[in-house]
Amino acid sequence: MLGIYVHIPFCEKKCNYCNFASFVENNDFIKRYVQAVCKEIENSDYRGEEVDSIYIGGGTPSLIDAKHIDEILRCIYKNFRVDDDAEVSIECNPNSLTYEKLLIYRQANINRISLGAQSLDEEELKFLGRIHTPLQVFEAIANIKKAGFENFSVDFILGCHSASFKKFKRWLGQMIDLDVKHISVYMLQVEEGTALDRLYQKDPSVVLDDKKTVAIYQKISKFLKKNRFIHYEISNFAVDGFKSRHNMKYWSGESYLGFGLSAHSYSGRERWANANNFQDYFAGQLAFKEVLSNRELIEEHIMLGLRCEQGVKIDYLKTLGLDIAKDENYQKLLKKRILFQINDRFFLNEKYIPLCNRIILELL
Ligand SMILES: C[S@@+](CC[C@H](N)C(=O)[O-])C[C@H]1O[C@@H](n2cnc3c(N)ncnc32)[C@H](O)[C@@H]1O
Ligand code: SF4
Repeated sequence: MLGIYVHIPFCEKKCNYCNFASFVENNDFIKRYVQAVCKEIENSDYRGEEVDSIYIGGGTPSLIDAKHIDEILRCIYKNFRVDDDAEVSIECNPNSLTYEKLLIYRQANINRISLGAQSLDEEELKFLGRIHTPLQVFEAIANIKKAGFENFSVDFILGCHSASFKKFKRWLGQMIDLDVKHISVYMLQVEEGTALDRLYQKDPSVVLDDKKTVAIYQKISKFLKKNRFIHYEISNFAVDGFKSRHNMKYWSGESYLGFGLSAHSYSGRERWANANNFQDYFAGQLAFKEVLSNRELIEEHIMLGLRCEQGVKIDYLKTLGLDIAKDENYQKLLKKRILFQINDRFFLNEKYIPLCNRIILELL
């Protein structure tokens, strides 16, 4: 079934590490943008199709007036056949998420909240360029629960130079006590052109080195698993029954439609993305549209499969013309126990999860 992603490219202030498409804009501009998104939804070639997951991401969707979120969802419900039990998620930041907004979200059929905490250390939050305090994270969680949301997730970033497992263990323990059902722990990426990148170029020790990151990551994974979380994708952990349907769609190669600035879509062999500047987006232009070759599908399948608990299907690779068992690099990685094979699937040894991107390069 189809998944829908809607991009809300607005933030109160740009964080030091972030290069997602997000901008600081005024309310009139935001209103104009929401109208453009609704128009795009109404004109979609896929209108009338069945949808079982909607994800409103950003940027900071919780920053904009909740009536705009309601407007966008109404438009989706009007133009698509949304399942009664569809997963409907929204990304929120602690400083802009209010109880009143949460009540409107519930009325608009949203049933999953993804809250960006990133850290619960005052100094780290400043270093990351966040504009909320640790206390605001706890207040936001209290409001999420008070508003009746059982399904909510909290994002953390691992990679500040002052990171330690001791701190993570305390924070994650607090999240577990608060009955958080899904936790994402992203390894800090130094993205080109960001404020963090400029700091890093002067002094690489502003971020944690790879070795320490891997060591902390492995302990985090072990700790969460001991506390009944499933490590279902590199950065994602969930209590049984609370894996994100939206995430699973991305990682298992199912079709999804993206609406809004720079949003990506994927269907069959086709992949396309909306323009990544407002002028072109308002004019209805795409950034690109491509038909994936067998080689690209193979790369995609390996990349997605190694990141997830379901692994890579060897038979599927065969249908695309790759007999991986005969590949020298594959055999080497098996011998080194970096990869392992069970029946017709191969998987990444958990120990190497933080090095996944490098291993994929070796394999491809
Ligand atoms: C695009 S953000 C949107 C969520 C929300 N605006 C927030 O900041 O909490 C989604 C998640 O991506 C992660 N993220 C963004 N940039 C990152 C980077 N350079 N390295 C690691 N994680 C990053 C953050 O953890 C963030 O919560
Ligand atoms: S991390 Fe979130 S709040 Fe910060 S700039 Fe990126 S999208 Fe905006």
